[in-house]
Amino acid sequence: MRLKAIAAAVLVAGLGVVGVAIAAQEDGTHEARSALMKKVGGAAGAMAAIAKGEKPYDAEVVKASLMTIAETAKVFPDQFKPGTEKGDKAASPKIWEDHADFKARAAKLSDDADKLLAQLPADPAGVGAAMKALGANCGGCHEKFRIKTE
Ligand code: HEC
Repeated sequence: MRLKAIAAAVLVAGLGVVGVAIAAQEDGTHEARSALMKKVGGAAGAMAAIAKGEKPYDAEVVKASLMTIAETAKVFPDQFKPGTEKGDKAASPKIWEDHADFKARAAKLSDDADKLLAQLPADPAGVGAAMKALGANCGGCHEKFRIKTE
């Protein structure tokens, strides 16, 4: 009985932590958006290192990077809810004005990463080609929707 109570308390505490973590991640602030994009940037960087021969080809790294990009791009546009534009110097007002295009671009990046996952690039040259395809999405969206702050 006591053990059960303790187990329940631990479970509740655990859920509380998860709830807080999710809330902190999805509060639509510059920090939350920036953290997601940093994840995407890190994944792209890991693939670029393989494409450039700085790191040996590793199918697991390629797979994990593509999964990170696919999943992060799916939740990224949810961070730009109406009313959260205040104080974010990196996010262009166009994100809120033309949200359909913004969402479509994020969805395209996610789809492209999913396609690459289905046909995993098998060598550094393949990873390089994949980066080129993905990179067009990054550059296109940044050009229209991101304000360079530094
Ligand atoms: C749907 C549009 C969109 C796509 C696609 C996109 N980005 Fe971004 N990115 C943004 C916006 C908007 C910001 C600024 C967000 C903010 O700071 O509020 C940003 C910021 C960044 C940052 C800066 C993060 C920081 O604060 O330090 C990096 C790095 C980045 N993106 C990498 C990438 C890479 C790599 C890709 C492609 C694999 C990519 N992005 C695709 C919209 C996009």
